[in-house]
Amino acid sequence: TDRYCVFGHPVGHSKSPQIHAAFAEQTGETIDYSAIEAPLDDFIGAWQAFIAKGGVGANVTVPFKEDAFRLCDTLSHRAKRAGAVNTLVLGGNGQTYGDTTDGVGLVRDLEHHGVKLAAARILVLGAGGAVRGILEPLLKAGAASVLIANRTAEKAERLAADFMDLGVIRGGGFEAVTGTFDVVINGTSASLAGDLPPLPDDLFANGATAYDMMYGAEPTVFLAWAAERGARPLDGLGMLVEQAAESFFQWRNVRPETAPVLAALRQSL
Ligand code: ATR
Repeated sequence: TDRYCVFGHPVGHSKSPQIHAAFAEQTGETIDYSAIEAPLDDFIGAWQAFIAKGGVGANVTVPFKEDAFRLCDTLSHRAKRAGAVNTLVLGGNGQTYGDTTDGVGLVRDLEHHGVKLAAARILVLGAGGAVRGILEPLLKAGAASVLIANRTAEKAERLAADFMDLGVIRGGGFEAVTGTFDVVINGTSASLAGDLPPLPDDLFANGATAYDMMYGAEPTVFLAWAAERGARPLDGLGMLVEQAAESFFQWRNVRPETAPVLAALRQSL
């Protein structure tokens, strides 16, 4: 049986084992998928030990995505851009290939909800690793423009500069947010603390979508705020399932159906 796992620290809260078990059952693939808490100072050792025990692929979550990026022998285009890896694949030659499926996961989830990205004016809140991972797929989906707004304006400006060759993108502080947007994506960790970035009340265009990359049993503060202002609220649970499906596809060359898995996961929150 091919072995897979998710590496994190902590990792006990991870829903990946549940999601991949559901994909395996649905597709008839026989895999063993576990959760492994890697030591903070030796991610490479954890990956090598896993390979030695028959591991052939892994997901990588906080705080190891940059460590995973550094250990790979080869990388996908989008992983190079993101500077992070959430999917490791052991090749037949013993080399490790790295990909990041977070951004494509977000784009697929938005598509499944009927959100049009082509020609959309997109506002992205935050400029950390999570945001870096979604910019290439958003721009490639045909966004008219992307504005990155962040508490630390300079980080948003630098991030935008890294993606300027892919489309119309700029960065600034929250005070730079003017006009209206079709899609507003919260990629800050502010909602973890129950905080809301300081945003103008009238930033949502007609029919706008508000997306929080976080999720929970209750709507995040950002989504509650957005819904009160007429936007359609979507949380990041769908993105989680879609990124997992893309990883599963990288490993098994089979695409699982995500809708039933997402519905079951939603029930269990
Ligand atoms: P991640 O990997 O989840 O993106 P990160 O790289 O630490 O984590 O980035 C966290 C993001 O959330 C940053 O954009 C951060 O803003 P700063 O760059 O100014 O630090 C943002 N963030 C965290 N707490 C916040 C808060 N209370 N209000 C607004 N933004 C916040």
